[in-house]
Amino acid sequence: MIQQQLLQRIEQKSAVIGIVGLGYVGLPLMLRFAEVGYKVLGFDIDADKVTALTEGRSYIEHIRAESIRQARDRGFEATTDFSRAGEADTLILCVPTPLNKYREPDLSFVLDTMDSLVPYLREGHLVSLESTTYPGTTDEELLPRIESRGLKVGENAFLVFSPEREDPGNPDFTTRTIPKVCGGYSPACQEVGVALYSAVIDKVVPVSSTRAAEMTKLLENIHRAVNIGLVNEMKIVADRMGIDIHEVIRAAATKPFGFVPYYPGPGLGGHCIPIDPFYLTWKAREYGVNTRFIELAGEVNSSMPDYVVSKVAAALNDRRKAINGSRILVLGIAYKKNVDDMRESPSVMLMEKLRDLGAEIAYSDPHVPVFPKMREHHFDLSSVPVTAETLAGYDCVLLATDHDRFDYALIKAHAQLIVDSRGKYLEPAGHIVKA
Ligand SMILES: NC(=O)c1ccc[n+]([C@@H]2O[C@H](COP(=O)([O-])OP(=O)(O)OC[C@H]3O[C@@H](n4cnc5c(N)ncnc54)[C@H](O)[C@@H]3O)[C@@H](O)[C@H]2O)c1
Repeated sequence: MIQQQLLQRIEQKSAVIGIVGLGYVGLPLMLRFAEVGYKVLGFDIDADKVTALTEGRSYIEHIRAESIRQARDRGFEATTDFSRAGEADTLILCVPTPLNKYREPDLSFVLDTMDSLVPYLREGHLVSLESTTYPGTTDEELLPRIESRGLKVGENAFLVFSPEREDPGNPDFTTRTIPKVCGGYSPACQEVGVALYSAVIDKVVPVSSTRAAEMTKLLENIHRAVNIGLVNEMKIVADRMGIDIHEVIRAAATKPFGFVPYYPGPGLGGHCIPIDPFYLTWKAREYGVNTRFIELAGEVNSSMPDYVVSKVAAALNDRRKAINGSRILVLGIAYKKNVDDMRESPSVMLMEKLRDLGAEIAYSDPHVPVFPKMREHHFDLSSVPVTAETLAGYDCVLLATDHDRFDYALIKAHAQLIVDSRGKYLEPAGHIVKA
């Protein structure tokens, strides 16, 4: 009965969609629900974000303020007031899942969010967790909290895990066109979850449990982390052998089956790939299993900034210079090209390592005009314009993130020395060193 009422509200678009956590994941999801005609109520603990959204401003580069304003005109509201959770029919949790300093899962954001919502849970609520996490989180952590309100999940309240998939900066996919996996605590939960997401996403992929859905997301990200680790190791081997790894990848990618190209770089970045695999590592210990591929990929990938620094040192050494005292311009500090996201960016590690060795560091990034406040890193710097004069003034230009907006011909023409960690410069040149 309660399930039927909720299904009907979803179908008739009279359901109010509550989204908790309005960041890189929650905000695009809000836009999509608003676009198809749902009233969306967004919750966040960050009052600045709520104010920005209420005023129709965006704080994410690839999300236009115009779309926020359109959503607002269609009834979207943002609030820090969790007591309004009862107004929503669904509570979709899109909050961070980082690692703590021991590289263990930090579920505090998910649990704090749930604890803030519990007093306002009511019959007919659907809770969906989208944050990446280890198998078991939804059933072991969220279910008991929801039932502590006297609700019975699967009967008068519903619980699913549906991982977010996003490729920031990739124009080929939108929230609507990326298939969405969804696993419910029970068949009734599953039915409601699939109905909800099918209303806004072209293809919903049901799986048999919340655990299978949680594991699916981890497999996807571990697959990337391991293959990037592999190609980073291949880069080091190829370099020692005098072979250009990028030429090799391009050639291998012509194989029409059985090969997927991955590209080496200065390390892993972003909120997902460097972090999520270790959620599984941690949980697997409970079952007496070691996740050796994950550990090894982590080891290789996290050693890449040191590899790049060693290339900078060798290149300067060839010119009778030391890192100590050299002026080094780091190009691209976002973690990947064409985005403004700095989370876990290896460029920041490069900047710190070079600064600690005595270099005078500057950076240029068309997507990051001012070095942002970060929890563990600080540089009081603004982006330097890339001109013939500025380029010529640095002992070394380190290409860390290959944004499309850089003028690579200008850089090649005027930099004294380029250390290229992205394989952007294919033709050999005396002043270009691959790293
Ligand atoms: N960014 C991506 O590309 C991506 C892709 C797939 C999955 N994910 C996963 O999605 C989840 C969210 O990531 P994100 O990139 O959107 O993070 P984010 O930091 O951009 O956004 C999280 C938002 O949650 C808010 N928040 C924090 N604690 C809260 C609380 N207790 N109550 C309400 N709001 C709270 C923050 O203020 C922030 O606005 C993570 O688990 C991440 O692994 C991210």
